[in-house]
Amino acid sequence: MQSITESSYWEERYQEQTPRWDLGEAAPPFLSLLNSENKPNLGKTAVLGCGRGYDALLFAEHGFEVVGFDFAPTAIADSISLAKTTNNTAQFLQRDIFNLATEFPDYFDYVVEHTCFCAIPPERRTEYVQLVRSILRPNGELIALFFTHSRPGGPPFGSTPTEIRQYFEADFEILFLEPVLNSVPSRQGEEHIARFRVR
Ligand SMILES: C[S@@+](CC[C@H](N)C(=O)[O-])C[C@H]1O[C@@H](n2cnc3c(N)ncnc32)[C@H](O)[C@@H]1O
Repeated sequence: MQSITESSYWEERYQEQTPRWDLGEAAPPFLSLLNSENKPNLGKTAVLGCGRGYDALLFAEHGFEVVGFDFAPTAIADSISLAKTTNNTAQFLQRDIFNLATEFPDYFDYVVEHTCFCAIPPERRTEYVQLVRSILRPNGELIALFFTHSRPGGPPFGSTPTEIRQYFEADFEILFLEPVLNSVPSRQGEEHIARFRVR
């Protein structure tokens, strides 16, 4: 059986046109954040598990210098194509995110996360936290939209705000971790938005 740690699992969903997580647009809570008075200062931004790139394109539209990473070739090809047709400056690289630490050590001001933490096997979550930590500069921030559903199994693997804190708080100051009010209808009441700063 195919494993979710292999890019082929995800690639097939994109090729079959059945990526059920794909919103077809940037996540509304990110749009709200970028249009709010709490908009982060501009900086170098990595979007992990970027899929077809909508969130990466959104941050680039708002002036951030963005690189989207995904290991599914079709996701990256679609993102590059969308960036070209919309004249967007976001770059997209086909990478396994767990290999980014050597290529981009202490490099980014922000890491943006949307349905990537829930897509990796839960036993890799500690490794994921270390990866995010290692590609961020001192005082860099994780801007995350966590899928906090409570159904068993996955992907998407749910998590509670308490669990998320437990994973991140040793390495990150929790600036906020709050329920989302403007999720898409299928995720109402099941998302938390967060900003965590490297300690
Ligand atoms: C649930 S999808 C979310 C995609 C996108 N963030 C969105 O919201 O549309 C998870 C994405 O993470 C990617 N992914 C999973 N594990 C990965 C890894 N180890 N390295 C790079 N990408 C990975 C998959 O290919 C997939 O595109």
